Amino acid sequence: MPHAEVKHVRMTPSSFVAIVAACGAAVAASATGCGNEPPPLVAGGGNGEGAGTSSGDGGSGGVFVDNGKELWAGIEAEMITACGSCHDAGGIGDAPFLAGPDRYKSVLSWPGVVTVDPAESLFVTYAVAGGGHSGTNFDTIPGDLFDRVKAWLAAESTAIGTTPPDDSPHVDPFTPIIGFNAVYLTPIDPALSGVAITFTAEELTASSLKLSQLTVHTTSKTGVHIAHPIFAVYPKGGTAEIDPVDSFAGLDTYFPESTSEALGTGTLILTNWQPEAKLGLGFETCSAWTEGGGDGGGGGGATGACNALDEFVTNAVPQLQARCENCHGGNNGQATAALDMSDLGSNNAAACGQVKNRINTTTPAQSQVFITTDPNGNAGHPYKFGGDDNLYNDFRNDLTIWIQAE
Ligand code: HEC
Ligand code: HEC
Repeated sequence: MPHAEVKHVRMTPSSFVAIVAACGAAVAASATGCGNEPPPLVAGGGNGEGAGTSSGDGGSGGVFVDNGKELWAGIEAEMITACGSCHDAGGIGDAPFLAGPDRYKSVLSWPGVVTVDPAESLFVTYAVAGGGHSGTNFDTIPGDLFDRVKAWLAAESTAIGTTPPDDSPHVDPFTPIIGFNAVYLTPIDPALSGVAITFTAEELTASSLKLSQLTVHTTSKTGVHIAHPIFAVYPKGGTAEIDPVDSFAGLDTYFPESTSEALGTGTLILTNWQPEAKLGLGFETCSAWTEGGGDGGGGGGATGACNALDEFVTNAVPQLQARCENCHGGNNGQATAALDMSDLGSNNAAACGQVKNRINTTTPAQSQVFITTDPNGNAGHPYKFGGDDNLYNDFRNDLTIWIQAE
């Protein structure tokens, strides 16, 4: 199995929080924020020094040429031939970076494919002999496809606007998946390991992106204090711009451990969206916090108590043990931090409390435990039943009995 370390595209630190800080006065003075003013720290016109495929280095406003899409169009058909049998939606690769209808969007948003340093792309590090990949490797494909893939990766990395470092808490910009996204706050502080903000992204129009069901998930180890989260749009090769209405300006919330709660109203519409842009997320405050003040609260947490423990034990535990425990039961630190199933079998009440934070009792089919693992879905989760719909359906049917009882 490939690591999941590269779930979100790694990028150099961004400065959009600095942008926000710089225009904080304007935000305070006008309800519309300062989205229309050019952010001071972001260089205009690309960041130059990429492959010769992109023009100009910023200097005095060189024109940025985004030919990533064009280069992709030149390799898409060959990529489908070489990789599509396993990497389309429902494929056994559990990594549908070629999912249609818009395969370009899928490949851009698959974690770890388009990277700031194109040499770090999973295509170059993993899908090659010795990389650990069980499928077709680029270096075994005759012809120059691999070279053209590298040229495309170089062009995409040039389109990532790199900006000066910044000390405000933020995650690196990432291309949102149109669908379910999980953004981990671990990079902000290791003490926040496993704490995530999840949401569903939908393009309403070419210039507006709706984020709904924005939810903060804490872990059994820590809660989080969040104040003034700010989303920003990073157009390809362009200048970053914060949410023009600064939707969460007044938010200041403490989220206790073992909970999942809406972030503010849970909905945000970015009216400055651009297709294929990246999203940035920063905060005025984002720090580990626990309800009791100290750490080491008892397992299970206050809010996770289950109402239907019998149904959980009978219907959910065997499935979770068979399909999920391997990673979520402790072997994979990242998976366990995100969703802790280490108490399965030994303390099912505690395990139930953890899994309950990832279900939807109103609409069971909308539960995260199903959305992230759906073989036909495009969520960036490393396990999707190896593309086996029957296994997935059995899992869903059994867990649904418990979820309905909750
Ligand atoms: C015969 C099936 C098959 C083919 C064809 C195939 N792969 Fe894979 N790929 C897999 C499987 C299975 C995995 C899951 C881990 C593993 O076994 O390597 C995977 C994993 C990956 C991953 C890791 C995904 C992640 O998020 O960590 C990448 C990247 C990848 N493949 C790229 C490619 C590329 C590029 C091609 C075409 C040149 C390709 N694969 C062709 C089966 C395939
Ligand atoms: C191959 C290892 C692996 C298996 C098997 C696995 N997961 Fe995960 N899961 C992960 C990792 C890794 C993360 C955290 C991702 C991160 O930190 O970027 C995760 C995160 C999650 C999340 C949080 C949301 C998200 O997408 O990050 C949910 C929900 C989840 N897994 C459910 C499940 C369920 C249900 C099963 C069993 C059907 C399962 N997982 C099996 C590795 C796995």
